[in-house]
Amino acid sequence: MEIKSFTHSDIINLCLYAGLVIILIAYSLYAKRRKHHFHIPVALFIIYFILVDLIIVVSKFDLEPALIVLKLLSTIFLTFSIIRFFAFIFIDYSFREKNIPAITRDIILAVLYVISVLVILRYQANVNLASLITTSAVVTAVIGFALQDTLSNLFSGIVLQMEKPYHIHDWICVENYSGKVVGMSWKSTKIYTREKELISIPNNIIAKSHILNYSKPDPNHIAILEIGISYDDAPNIVREAMLTTVGEHPKVNNYPPPEVRVLNFNDFTIDYQIRFSISDFENEERIKSHIMNQLWYRFKRRGIKIPFPIRTVHNVQAMPEKEEMEKNKASRRAIIHLQMVDIFSPISEEYLNSIAAKVRFENYSQYETIIREGSSGDSMFVVVSGLCEVLKKDDTGKDILIAELGENNFFGEMTLLTGEPRSATVKAKEDVVCIRIGKKDLESIMKEHSTIADAMSEILAKRKDDLDAKKNDRNKKMSSAKKEASNILLKIKAFFKI
Ligand code: CMP
Repeated sequence: MEIKSFTHSDIINLCLYAGLVIILIAYSLYAKRRKHHFHIPVALFIIYFILVDLIIVVSKFDLEPALIVLKLLSTIFLTFSIIRFFAFIFIDYSFREKNIPAITRDIILAVLYVISVLVILRYQANVNLASLITTSAVVTAVIGFALQDTLSNLFSGIVLQMEKPYHIHDWICVENYSGKVVGMSWKSTKIYTREKELISIPNNIIAKSHILNYSKPDPNHIAILEIGISYDDAPNIVREAMLTTVGEHPKVNNYPPPEVRVLNFNDFTIDYQIRFSISDFENEERIKSHIMNQLWYRFKRRGIKIPFPIRTVHNVQAMPEKEEMEKNKASRRAIIHLQMVDIFSPISEEYLNSIAAKVRFENYSQYETIIREGSSGDSMFVVVSGLCEVLKKDDTGKDILIAELGENNFFGEMTLLTGEPRSATVKAKEDVVCIRIGKKDLESIMKEHSTIADAMSEILAKRKDDLDAKKNDRNKKMSSAKKEASNILLKIKAFFKI
């Protein structure tokens, strides 16, 4: 075999292309690490330069067929890299902005690649591949067979694109997998589950399956909870407790309004179904759990029972004694706590005893509303544990924090003493245990201990002052901000003469 020697310019070209390959490899790695799609055209350019180097080397040997193939490949890779480069500039960015799925871009690119290969083969190698494939039944059959799955995915992808049963960011359920659509390619649809897993479902499977789209026709979704409650509790009372709890949850939509249905008269329970609308499908399980949590607290306060059949059977005989013991325990506990509240400290233990037997301990979970501003009421509360926040609405309806009340503080006395609507909202900032004192109990305390009325009226007046001062302060701040804004607007208008 005859070997030609390398000229000076060959060596310079070889070094130049090798240098370019090294620089482009470094850039490609950098772009890939930053998840930049630009690394693809760069990688294609790298292959092209390697092929050019090979052409220089092979041209020195007597290997004509290899040279033809290399030249053909180098033209194909150069064309691919140019197509990918322009696709990156003109298609990728605008598609991503418009949220157009990757499949559309992939199809455009595939068509461009195929056309360019056909043209290069036709004009550089004088091979008419298109007519070769169409005339050769065997080649067509082999290619068709080999690409069966791929083509089925591709065509299913195109059908899904046209039919659009879901879009990127929709929540769907296919083949028992539910999640958020995060990508659609010519091969598969990627969904991201609530368990933070990424699942790729082939398009041909999706095309054959039932698709449940939680985000269409609108993002609202009806969540369902089912709970069994004791036969002792009247359905209307249970329904009211359920509706109040669900209605108070900030993530539950007002429309359509929550609904409670009596489902079934079961062996030990009356089964209820609570239906409510949410828009945050992603957090459905969390919202349900939060509502179940709050239901437990509300049921507990209202004496609504979630029965446990086995326990009920065992405890039937011992119930009255056990109840008596529990009552005594609670009243001893109440005395200890009431003694620690400043205003109640002058009350004798004997008298406290009779009151403590009547008061109730109530549990509230974090964020629950204990008292709502504007509502009526006939009880006050002493905080046994946890922290409550007192909130008042300003003129725009926003909540202002008035105070935080911890252990041994009391609230709700204003309405109890004056009969006026609740002056503020009191919410549990963390899980709270309170003693609820009814109007009658307080009346009898005050009749016997006149000093308590004096102490309470002083505190009440101070709290009222504080309440007015904080509200006025906020309104003043807002009205001065409004004044400032209108002054600035006047200045702008004068400056631009508008
Ligand atoms: P009431 O009006 O019955 O219901 C809301 C309660 O918030 C109110 O009684 C007080 O107990 C309490 N409250 C109102 N203003 C203050 C304040 N400035 N500091 C502490 N508690 C307050």
